[in-house]
Amino acid sequence: MYRKRLGVNVDHVATIRQARGTRYPDPVFAALLAERIGADQITIHLREDRRHIQDRDLEVMREMVQTALNLEMAATEEMVNVAVDVGPDRVTLVPEKREELTTEGGLDVAGNQKSIARAVSKLQEAGIAVSLFVDADRKQIEASHAVGADAVELHTGRYCDAVTEEELVRELEAIEAAARYAHELGLEVAAGHGLDLTNGGPIAAIEEIEEGNIGHSLVARAILLGFEEAVGEMIDAMDVE
Ligand code: PXP
Repeated sequence: MYRKRLGVNVDHVATIRQARGTRYPDPVFAALLAERIGADQITIHLREDRRHIQDRDLEVMREMVQTALNLEMAATEEMVNVAVDVGPDRVTLVPEKREELTTEGGLDVAGNQKSIARAVSKLQEAGIAVSLFVDADRKQIEASHAVGADAVELHTGRYCDAVTEEELVRELEAIEAAARYAHELGLEVAAGHGLDLTNGGPIAAIEEIEEGNIGHSLVARAILLGFEEAVGEMIDAMDVE
């Protein structure tokens, strides 16, 4: 038996911090706890609107993370320059729309080959490995190979949102076929988006998928698992002599 690599996305620790403009909870602290228990990689998304992770978080993470730092970002000139300056171990290029709640759909690599190829080579020249976040679609995988990416991360959102058994099987088969094809082309294969304790198993079981990047469900579960302890601490703190 062996375990697939787990990338822990700590964006939503920062979401809670940003909701009140406090210094806590600190996503760097969460990253170190994740590493302490065995996470293989820390993933953060520096969004153009800076709604959760801030530039300072990225800089401190670069100093503190000891496993691997995976920076998700849009393929813009601004973001490529930030990445080249800070030097994460890996960049995952994602599509980004300001109004979206989260990353909806994969990157259209096939439709933007020239600009994505430019971003990929600039990042690789700086010693950063590049992964492209794409839908489980042959055309996008072929294009990812053509632009020289090191890896693809397959978007599992539609599989995670599937309602009927038929939809679930169809989405899982599409992810399996895409993973196999990407592997045949020599790309490393990761998966992510919407994965949790109940739907993650079948994805981890796909042979060619080497890594999962998971955030929202982990932060959500951590809040509930730690709630009794936090309330208990406060009750103790309210004891007076
Ligand atoms: N992988 C990528 C490329 C993402 O954009 C995200 C969301 O930021 C994730 C993984 C993590 O998704 P989730 O928070 O739903 O686990």
